[in-house]
Amino acid sequence: MFTPEALAARLQRLATFSAPGAGVTRLVYDDAWCEAHRWLREEAAALGLAATCDAIGNLWFHDLGLPPGAEVIAVGSHLDTVVQGGRYDGPYGTIAGLMLAAEMRASGVPVAAFVTCEEEGSRFPASLTGVRGLLGQLVPSQLAALRDASGTTWGEALAMARERGCASALPAEGMPLAPLFRARRQLELHIEQGPVLEDSGETLGIVHRIAGYRRVRARLRGEARHAGTTPMDRRHDAFAAAAEIVLAAEALAREAGPPAVATAGFAHVAPGLFNVVPGECTLGLEVRHTKVEALARLADDLAARAQAIAQRRGVSLSVETESGEPPTPLSEELAAEAVALAKAQGISHRVMASGAGHDTMAFAQAGVPALMLFVPSRGGISHAPEEHSAPRDLWTGVVFARELLGRWALAPA
Ligand code: HGY
Ligand code: MN
Ligand code: MN
Repeated sequence: MFTPEALAARLQRLATFSAPGAGVTRLVYDDAWCEAHRWLREEAAALGLAATCDAIGNLWFHDLGLPPGAEVIAVGSHLDTVVQGGRYDGPYGTIAGLMLAAEMRASGVPVAAFVTCEEEGSRFPASLTGVRGLLGQLVPSQLAALRDASGTTWGEALAMARERGCASALPAEGMPLAPLFRARRQLELHIEQGPVLEDSGETLGIVHRIAGYRRVRARLRGEARHAGTTPMDRRHDAFAAAAEIVLAAEALAREAGPPAVATAGFAHVAPGLFNVVPGECTLGLEVRHTKVEALARLADDLAARAQAIAQRRGVSLSVETESGEPPTPLSEELAAEAVALAKAQGISHRVMASGAGHDTMAFAQAGVPALMLFVPSRGGISHAPEEHSAPRDLWTGVVFARELLGRWALAPA
């Protein structure tokens, strides 16, 4: 049934599918992910929807009579989380999509809900793989050899998920996934994950652009030496060089000003002992911006500053690009329609950019008219166990989306 209580109950239940520890940890193809996948398929069936799974574990929830290749309005989000993340990043848009598909399965252009298998890049070194699969842009055999921290390959993990009924048969070697439906338009409901809506006291974010990002793995090699006998002026300390690079990343984002951000998400130091000057350090660095040139400038500036630091310290530096997405504009036309509806309904709102990346980027990049709707995040917190959004706001987003989709369903292509 289409009630705020049903939304809250489903979000509560989905949050229980997690690895042990703080917050929610549900990594693509792991045990919690497979259990959540099974539960979602049962929920869809209980709502009278078909749950169709593709070869990498993406799900579509749709009317039983909808033929493959049909044109739909696609609404959904991702099933995976970051490590010790929150209970709304992904699940909100996933459950909202399920409920909206059940409400609007045959209203003009049918609404079909999607659940992407992976968006976060939190287990394997690849992100947005689910939505690329949905859009027919992914060749599974190209990901098969990627390894997670335990050494399990993407292909092995996917095969284990398939044995549990969470993926269908793979296409022939070297072939891409075939999209099940064609998206005429696409919508993703999501928590804002930042402080803008809460600070401004607005209820709804109408997202018309998504920041791009560049992620690199910086490997520093200095000299492992005795910590007690090596004088300070004769060290080539890889970790100290990395620490200076981390602060340089922070400084360049501050100098560039919002919405520029730069983050060093991890550092792996070797040999990692009290009494050895670190000989090696690998840093995970990322920069983000909503403008193409500014993002390129951030990335280039960071690379130049890192090289200068490494050189001055007599440490070698190699930088490997891990992943990246361009700043992605969404549909200004759909955003304007949403603004008009919010005004008509007296819902406080703002048109805004998203600092976080989303599945919606891939739809927009594929030429699908796409839009996101944000609801406020308490304290602007996300990717942390404290992530929270008020049930009232979550429900307002779903009801607004139902009204918006009703108009989309009747609109000409
Ligand atoms: O990293 C992001 O912006 C998203 O949460 N994957
Ligand atoms: Mn997300
Ligand atoms: Mn996220």
